[in-house]
Amino acid sequence: MESLASTVTFLEAEEGWRRPSAFLWRAEAADRLDLLLLGAHDEALHARAIGLLDAMEAIDGEGFAAIRAAIRAGEGRMALDAWLDVGIPTGQHYDVLDHVLAGVLAIEEPDVARPAPPPDMVFYQPTPARHIIDGVNRARIAADDVVMDLGAGLGHVPILVNVLTGARTSGVEREPGYVARAMEAARGLGLRDVNIAVGDARDADLSDASVFYLFTPFVGTVLRDVVAKIEREARRRPVRVVSLGPCTRTFARMGWLGSDDADPSATDRIVVFRSLHALA
Ligand SMILES: C[S@@+](CC[C@H](N)C(=O)[O-])C[C@H]1O[C@@H](n2cnc3c(N)ncnc32)[C@H](O)[C@@H]1O
Repeated sequence: MESLASTVTFLEAEEGWRRPSAFLWRAEAADRLDLLLLGAHDEALHARAIGLLDAMEAIDGEGFAAIRAAIRAGEGRMALDAWLDVGIPTGQHYDVLDHVLAGVLAIEEPDVARPAPPPDMVFYQPTPARHIIDGVNRARIAADDVVMDLGAGLGHVPILVNVLTGARTSGVEREPGYVARAMEAARGLGLRDVNIAVGDARDADLSDASVFYLFTPFVGTVLRDVVAKIEREARRRPVRVVSLGPCTRTFARMGWLGSDDADPSATDRIVVFRSLHALA
């Protein structure tokens, strides 16, 4: 069985995880070390393992800083190029791409009071980054789109979509602490076309957006009211709705939306809908 001693000895001699781009290598090695450190009593071995973890964190930090610098220079898409082939992503788990995005955005989760949200509203949970990339690809989001995240949380979607496509992005989020942190992150990356506002999605001005994104931020009557608002917009111009999670089933039932996706009711994968209203 793998021991802390053999893992530390192996990693000390190994060069692979030291390559700046080897985020996955490091994440997996760090997970293994963290696990093996539980219950480790040999102080010298413990110190060597901590030394490896510190070295991994330092290399990650340099990698995140390099990607941040590229984003500030307007070259974020190129810097993230190696991550953009996400295949057919499913599931709600997080992976190394989320680790990279978290490092690049460097958002500290604010200390927001977490009483139960109002009826029909859902707690914050970020969209796994691979789904954001999948949505960008399959909804063919381009620089002339305006993308709005309804229930934007800490702003991962508006920020990453803007970096990858150059589209103007916005968000509305009911929790002011999240909005403050998201906008701090956008400003820190020099992103001038990301704008997240505090508010209730039911009251938001939707008149600008060509793409609406929802990771099941609400259900029941709140979702019904917001869907009705999006439909009103769709009577005026073609819109796309990109959704993830159970709210997708609601969009799949709307006669004014169509989807070319294999399963328009899938809840474990992004579904892209296009409005079908004839333009007046
Ligand atoms: C599941 S999270 C999704 C966060 C983000 N869209 C993402 O995908 O990373 C849902 C978010 O919607 C927010 N929310 C819930 N009801 C809302 C409402 N009526 N108006 C605005 N935001 C709302 C919650 O505070 C939470 O941050």
